[in-house]
Amino acid sequence: MTFHTQARVGTAALALAIVIGAGLPGLAANSEVAAVTAEACTTCHGPGGVSEGEMPTIAGQDAATLTEALRGYRDGTLQGTIMGKLVSTLSDEEIAALAEYFAALPGAGQ
Ligand code: HEC
Repeated sequence: MTFHTQARVGTAALALAIVIGAGLPGLAANSEVAAVTAEACTTCHGPGGVSEGEMPTIAGQDAATLTEALRGYRDGTLQGTIMGKLVSTLSDEEIAALAEYFAALPGAGQ
């Protein structure tokens, strides 16, 4: 991993920490907060969660699928390179809000 990539990950994780640390009820219910949170994820997963590169597209996936993936990364049942570190401090509620947010966005080709 290059230094540049690490710096980017750090920024994204920081943005996430700020958003989630604010402890606002229902991320998806607050469009401003959702947009900031989305930005932390879309750094890697592409604008609006639709990937333009090698990362998986997360927009438009089933909310239950996204929830399962994020919990899996958090709990270590799903192995990844970076996702486990990014979501390690998220609560079930925060994961659900993120999953619902991205599930509601149009996926690739929609
Ligand atoms: C630093 C880049 C990066 C950031 C930021 C990032 N991801 Fe990921 N994401 C990845 C990579 C890489 C994978 C593949 C698994 C792995 O290697 O960790 C992945 C996999 C996923 C998957 C599984 C998708 C699939 O179809 O298999 C989901 C869901 C996901 N990320 C959601 C998110 C959410 C939500 C956020 C914001 C909280 C986020 N990601 C932030 C890089 C990132």
